[in-house]
Amino acid sequence: MTRVLVLNGPNLNLLGTREPGVYGADTLADLEARCREYGARLGLTVETVQSNHEGVLIDHLHAWGALHRAGQAIGVVFNPGAYTHTSIALHDAIKGVAPMPVIEVHLSNVHAREAFRHHSWVAPVAAGSIIGFGPEGYLLALDALARRAAAGLGTKP
Ligand code: DQA
Repeated sequence: MTRVLVLNGPNLNLLGTREPGVYGADTLADLEARCREYGARLGLTVETVQSNHEGVLIDHLHAWGALHRAGQAIGVVFNPGAYTHTSIALHDAIKGVAPMPVIEVHLSNVHAREAFRHHSWVAPVAAGSIIGFGPEGYLLALDALARRAAAGLGTKP
């Protein structure tokens, strides 16, 4: 019941070297380690996946939706990268695994950037969105999932 997936989408494997002025100096491995350590403090087992492929992200959402239905997971922290702004398929996948809570996270403040980053197909179906806090945003999202689960939210079909 305490498993959480931290799911990262396209290009996030390049963290550390990709536009460090925007995304910071931490690598994906650093970020994932912080999530695991912080999650453990909350009593969560944090698993991590990164993929550059839309269909693979969808497969993971489906698999975790099944774990959630079976009472073995409390939700997903998801940074969909640029698919945020393009993917109706991810929108449908998140809707399809309801009521599993999916928290949308972005490292950068997408609303302070190019106009094409202002629209999210994920936001309307996410339990909530945490945007612009860098790696801390993932930890805030873990807090949000732990608190929702403790309050019994998002656990009933
Ligand atoms: C991002 C923001 C997206 O617009 C961009 O395409 C990314 C990263 C972020 O974490 O700030 O790849 O999701």
